Amino acid sequence: RPLSVPVICIDGPTASGKGTLAVEVAHDLGYHYLDSGALYRVTGLAMRRAGLEADPAHETQIADLARTLPLRFDAGKAMLAGEDVTDEIRSEAAGMDASRVSALPAVRSALKDLQISFRKLPGLVADGRDMGTVIFPDAPLKVFLTASAAQRAERRHKQLISKGIQTTLDSLRSDLEARDLRDSSRSVAPLKPAEDARRLDNSNLSIEQSVDQVLNWWQQAQPFQ
Ligand code: DC
Repeated sequence: RPLSVPVICIDGPTASGKGTLAVEVAHDLGYHYLDSGALYRVTGLAMRRAGLEADPAHETQIADLARTLPLRFDAGKAMLAGEDVTDEIRSEAAGMDASRVSALPAVRSALKDLQISFRKLPGLVADGRDMGTVIFPDAPLKVFLTASAAQRAERRHKQLISKGIQTTLDSLRSDLEARDLRDSSRSVAPLKPAEDARRLDNSNLSIEQSVDQVLNWWQQAQPFQ
């Protein structure tokens, strides 16, 4: 059987807890981790710095930026040309920009090879919107993670408040819903579960319970046992 590096895909909407879950699972299994949303966020930042807007008139230029991003991940930090941009790409504004650039087809294809290059032994946990549908369609385990919009807004609210950032639950919730709508209705690689994805609604689960569920599924899906 040809050597195939195992991949676990975790896709789902904004603030569903994909990042936390994927990092934990990767840590438990000793696998690599791909935060594909960070690639779109960094592309959005590079776009802003180049004075461009996320519209089709600038699509080719933004795609060129994406293809040649001087980006490195170092101990969980996102480094753009040597500058630590980890905090800057986490803002709500950066999330919106990421969502806008990610709707441009040339940008998506410019980032494809970079995402695939993360697939290395002993394995990869990849989090995003289209990991299971487009980037790693042959992955032996695909999870589609959801939580109610109310739950997600509440979690994001707690996170931001704990960082000293003032926001209201209502504005967060309408931001989330706007992003969900854009991410699910775009023509290229929209957010949707792969046909063979396992659904996990974590509205009422602890992080630990969600991790256990994914590890259980992984044990069942193991092609190598
Ligand atoms: O997961 P995140 O919030 O960091 O992602 C930011 C935006 O990037 C999200 O609103 C849509 C886009 N994205 C995407 O289109 N495809 C991915 N695989 C990951 C993120």
